[in-house]
Amino acid sequence: MKSVIDRSKQIDEKLKLLFDVYTKTKEPLKINFRQEVEWLKSADRYTHLMHVYPAKLLGHIPHFFLNNSVLSKPGDIVADPFCGSGTVPLEALISGRQALGFDCNPLARLIAQVKVTPLDIHRINRVHGNIVKRLQKVELHIPSVVNLDYWYSPEHITQLGLLKSAIDAVSDLDVRNFFLVCFSVAARKLSYADPHISVPVRWNPDKENVSGSYRAMAAEHFEWLKKTQAIDVFNLIVSANSRRLAQLNEVLHEKVGGRIYLSDARELKTRDEGVERKLKKNSVQLIITSPPYAGAQKYVRSASLSLGWLGFAGTGELRPLERQTIGREHYPKAEYLQLHKTFIDDADVVLNRIYQKNPLRAHIAANYLLEMEMACERMVEVLKPGGYLVLVIGNNQVCGEDFFANKYLREIFVKLGLELKLELVDDIHSRGLMTKRNKTASLIACEWILLFSKS
Ligand SMILES: C[S@@+](CC[C@H](N)C(=O)[O-])C[C@H]1O[C@@H](n2cnc3c(N)ncnc32)[C@H](O)[C@@H]1O
Repeated sequence: MKSVIDRSKQIDEKLKLLFDVYTKTKEPLKINFRQEVEWLKSADRYTHLMHVYPAKLLGHIPHFFLNNSVLSKPGDIVADPFCGSGTVPLEALISGRQALGFDCNPLARLIAQVKVTPLDIHRINRVHGNIVKRLQKVELHIPSVVNLDYWYSPEHITQLGLLKSAIDAVSDLDVRNFFLVCFSVAARKLSYADPHISVPVRWNPDKENVSGSYRAMAAEHFEWLKKTQAIDVFNLIVSANSRRLAQLNEVLHEKVGGRIYLSDARELKTRDEGVERKLKKNSVQLIITSPPYAGAQKYVRSASLSLGWLGFAGTGELRPLERQTIGREHYPKAEYLQLHKTFIDDADVVLNRIYQKNPLRAHIAANYLLEMEMACERMVEVLKPGGYLVLVIGNNQVCGEDFFANKYLREIFVKLGLELKLELVDDIHSRGLMTKRNKTASLIACEWILLFSKS
């Protein structure tokens, strides 16, 4: 088995080779990250699989860009401005870097924070026991969850409400957050939502044209729900997540965890001990990020059940949250009567063509680029001279027109003064949960990895 040093040397050499070839050819290079870091055998490493999240990044990609001495050194600050469930901050922490993450979705922030926070397992076990005991005594409080009765049986609504109240009584914030993540997993499992689809869609065996296997799975799920108690599901999740946490503790020893902030990527604000600050200019050595795609994922809707149960956003509160999300799909008609120019020539040509077919879709894509440009500006600002930025992005089709987000974002970063050092393409393997929607967007076939440097 290769040592950590040998592995780091292997990636150093690979990076240098890629730089050389790219400097000469300026052609995108094919890469398979699973092969490059073949020593990562299982996806269930450390705390990665504590909670599902849409469009999670393949862990191999940040692992490759972190475990080398070319792009950063141990102790350097590594940030992900669109950190989602925290894949990058977790990998950064494991590789001995200081990990920072930002996301505007409170569920993402909670999951990511828990994944990068080492906690004493004996304490977790003790508090778990207290939560179970407390269930008999707590007062029932049911948070505002969109269409609660449509998604849950009355029994599970009561059981989950009691469980949430018992967890809320845990005084230590980090420990409470661990249990809230476990609770959120349980709340999704106990709903009537089909787990194969990221946004909640109720199993419906009576729908026309569904296959026999779909009907059988739906029947099995309904049967399972009838005989299952919320506490039993919760206990199983706590036990699996404690095992994951123990793995994290092993590598971190007494070291501090990462820091994840609820912030818009266009601002990158931190909040420590109640004091809000903007992340300092020229402070970050390495940014690794997979930003949203234009109209390709519904992060807020996917999280709607958890956002409600956790008290982050209930009925009537999801839309305001969605408005902060780049790549969102809902706009009032008045906003898309006219098409905005992005001043990225190729993009404007495509956007005009889309506009003729569907003004809303054109506005979604144009606004995506305009908002991404603001986030890119902020990323460049916080990056140190001599620092690097790794962008993982895919292309899609909008109304049958190819929308080359990789080219448009590349142009934005170059305009902002970064130098493009590498363009890599990896077949998409694991960004499951993306669905073909509206007949206006097609599936995203491969991922582009762009590496820039700041001088
Ligand atoms: C592709 S996902 C990131 C997934 C992440 N790499 C992971 O492994 O879980 C993009 C993320 O960008 C977040 N996002 C969208 N708009 C944002 C904004 N304006 N500021 C910060 N985060 C935003 C979404 O909430 C989502 O979590």
